[in-house]
Amino acid sequence: MKVLIIGSGGREHAIAWKLSKEDDIEKIYVSPGNGGTALENKCENISLNSNKDLIEFAKKEKIDFTIVGPEEPLINGIVDDFKSKGLKIFGPDKKGAALEGSKAYAKEFMEKYEIKTAKYKTFINLKEGLKYLEETEYPIVIKADGIAAGKGVIICRDKESGKDTLRDFMEKDIFKGAGKKVVIEEFLEGVEASILTVTDGKTIIPFISAKDHKQVYDGDRGPNTGGMGVICPNPYVTEEVMKEFKEKIMNPTLKGLKIENINFIGNIFFGIMITKKGVYLLEYNVRMGDPETEAILPLMRTNLSTIIINSLEENLENITIEWEKEASINVMLCSEGYPKSYKKGKIIEINPIDTGKIFISGAILKDNKLVTSGGRVLSLTVKNKNFNYAREECYENINKIKFNGVYFRKDIGKKVNN
Ligand code: AMP
Ligand code: GLY
Repeated sequence: MKVLIIGSGGREHAIAWKLSKEDDIEKIYVSPGNGGTALENKCENISLNSNKDLIEFAKKEKIDFTIVGPEEPLINGIVDDFKSKGLKIFGPDKKGAALEGSKAYAKEFMEKYEIKTAKYKTFINLKEGLKYLEETEYPIVIKADGIAAGKGVIICRDKESGKDTLRDFMEKDIFKGAGKKVVIEEFLEGVEASILTVTDGKTIIPFISAKDHKQVYDGDRGPNTGGMGVICPNPYVTEEVMKEFKEKIMNPTLKGLKIENINFIGNIFFGIMITKKGVYLLEYNVRMGDPETEAILPLMRTNLSTIIINSLEENLENITIEWEKEASINVMLCSEGYPKSYKKGKIIEINPIDTGKIFISGAILKDNKLVTSGGRVLSLTVKNKNFNYAREECYENINKIKFNGVYFRKDIGKKVNN
């Protein structure tokens, strides 16, 4: 089979790497890809900008199926465009992708299908929002309705910061439209988990659980990033938590999709909060996580192509996904300054590593050298039967990767050690 992957991050590199090891896969095109996908077996980067060009390419090359990595093209309707031309594509259509594209819509959906989530109110009027902030309890969480490059969620400790945030979103319009509508919701205290799933609209299967580390500094301090590292499985996702997640969140979501006639074929990534009062759904993502995917796929024994094909054929009911009996850790190496401003164009020097897999996030191949091109540059995933060994080996080998201004968290998965 020939496949086309859309995206340019570590997640797409991990997807390409996993598929490249599968016998059924003959050729993998990645648009635009990065310096990692450029070097992977069976892979070739192509650079096509419009859906029209991608569709033409998929037809011409007789691509068997296309996988969409990031949320933007899904929210903008790439799946609808491919399907209208009779092409196979893995991911939700525009209607399904709105579960990530609009937080207000996602909350309405959760409420309608009695999915356990934080109490909330939606506002489109600044005055009414400010009035609500006078009366409510703190801390409170303010969320821009649309996608805001991961910066649209602010936890406000007091009335003043709440009002400032609301004005930034609704009046100053810092997210260029995405914050004109806001969700204000109850603050939940607990530990977070990322649970990725795959669905064909009839059946939904959870992947192994994962734990992201969102804040930039050790000890979960500093601003939120796309993710600084992941451990897998998530030690807080006990059997009991998984059972509650399935009953109160995952299964009612599938039921809702069916009733709403949303023909969802793809991944739903549930961001959950495990609290003393049980498991709550924070958000839906309609794609795989990054760097969750880099930690999860190395543990997946089943062929990813088998899972995708059976999803596209609405046959997931007959599939079981097998996992290695191991744990993994992924640590992200960033450019100093990320998630704010950072320098690009630094040459990356990689001495041979003893174990693990390097996934490229933001680096390109220039004159046969890897050069930084993004805030999150690359990550290393190591797996082992014993999580503590995996962690030690990961941090030892990271020191073999060097570039000017490299920064990474030193405490990924540390709590598990204690
Ligand atoms: P979201 O994009 O909705 O997942 O929000 C981004 C991050 O904000 C989450 O990963 C949490 O760390 C935090 N967050 C979101 N909603 C809440 C909430 N209701 N209570 C506490 N923290 C939250
Ligand atoms: N790592 C979080 C995300 O992919 O949204």
